[in-house]
Amino acid sequence: MSKPIFIINGPNLNLLGTREPEVYGTQTLDDVKGICDKKAQALGYKITFLQSNIEGELIDFIQQAGRDGAGIVINPAAYTHTSVAMHDALKAVDVPSIEIHLSQPAKRESFRRRSYVAEAVHGTISGFGADSYVLGLQALSNLI
Ligand code: DQA
Repeated sequence: MSKPIFIINGPNLNLLGTREPEVYGTQTLDDVKGICDKKAQALGYKITFLQSNIEGELIDFIQQAGRDGAGIVINPAAYTHTSVAMHDALKAVDVPSIEIHLSQPAKRESFRRRSYVAEAVHGTISGFGADSYVLGLQALSNLI
């Protein structure tokens, strides 16, 4: 049995569905999990789907994925733009990782243009709503 793909979600993504639906859509995080489950199954993987609002917990998830996972799809949410610790954690683990975003941060406020995570992952997919997760899983499975 192959190791699961870790899908890690950062702060405020637990509020998907009601949070700024004009930016993030109306699907809930549970809906996104269901979509990921289906795609992963088609690719022959199981997923471990996690969310936290706490930076340190997200670091623990990345480290856990390094031990127990085949790779990482991560939506770091606002920590994308602030977290050197997440950058370091992603560099410290020996599994491939893909950064994804529902929205297209480059088209939004200027503070979203900087990603500390982008320099530590294989690549980034953004702007496709829940499809960013699906495309991230596809890209990751091609890398594994
Ligand atoms: C986000 C984009 C981030 O800039 C923002 O802070 C989020 C969500 C996205 O999925 O579009 O919380 O990562």
